[in-house]
Amino acid sequence: MKLNNKIILVTGGSSGIGLSSALMLKEKGATVIITGRNKEKLEKAAEENGLIGFVSDVSKEAEVKQLFQSILKQFGTLDVLINNAGFGYFELLENVNVEKFNDVLQTNVIGAALAAKEASKIFKEKNGGDIINIASTAATKGFAGGTSYVASKFALRGMTECWRAELRPYNIRVILINPSEVQTDFVVNSGRPERNFNPTKLVGEDIAHAIVSALEMENRGFITELTVFATNPKD
Ligand SMILES: NC(=O)c1ccc[n+]([C@@H]2O[C@H](COP(=O)([O-])OP(=O)(O)OC[C@H]3O[C@@H](n4cnc5c(N)ncnc54)[C@H](OP(=O)(O)O)[C@@H]3O)[C@@H](O)[C@H]2O)c1
Repeated sequence: MKLNNKIILVTGGSSGIGLSSALMLKEKGATVIITGRNKEKLEKAAEENGLIGFVSDVSKEAEVKQLFQSILKQFGTLDVLINNAGFGYFELLENVNVEKFNDVLQTNVIGAALAAKEASKIFKEKNGGDIINIASTAATKGFAGGTSYVASKFALRGMTECWRAELRPYNIRVILINPSEVQTDFVVNSGRPERNFNPTKLVGEDIAHAIVSALEMENRGFITELTVFATNPKD
């Protein structure tokens, strides 16, 4: 589909993969709405880049409903939802904190479902639309310390299949993208030490490119799942 003049919502678009994707979609002529919980960070990202910012926490149902009401009021419709908001929490099983585990699930799983639920109502009514879920290679393979995050991304991958089965008859494409390590604030935001920039590893623009490519394919077809690795990462 042509991205020109499309109305696109990127949850968690105030930094990292979400912001890079929002910028690339805007360059393609789309109107891009970004969300996040931190008002100052969101407003800065929106103002500096010509994006529309709405403070909205995907883990809170009332805020998600309010967000979609505002989008419909201001733009009249929505064409694409990019379920990108998410964060990690990494701890060995014996040390897993249940409250933090729940927080991860509430954003990465329930939050994605809440946004998709509202988007699906709009898309079913107009018989078309796209949902892109940003999962991870952690949605395909577990690792030590990954209990909470891996559980959340496997769940997102599973929900993707359910939504696809429900929504395909309405011409709605539900696409999963699995980035491997991408150099964003993700590591620091999950409580781990900052890593030095490594030019051989992925950056947000690489995932933005995957998103744009998947969306630009003619609507008669769609890519179900796309996994993105760095070609030859050096440590
Ligand atoms: N970086 C990687 O290596 C990597 C690899 C695979 C997949 N991913 C996935 O890619 C997505 C984006 O991560 P990133 O690497 O770009 O990290 P990031 O730079 O930390 O960005 C995360 C974004 O999500 C927002 N966010 C977090 N919780 C939210 C909530 N409850 N409601 C609304 N917004 C929320 C953050 O803003 P606020 O904090 O202000 O809310 C921020 O805009 C995540 O789903 C992550 O799991 C990342």
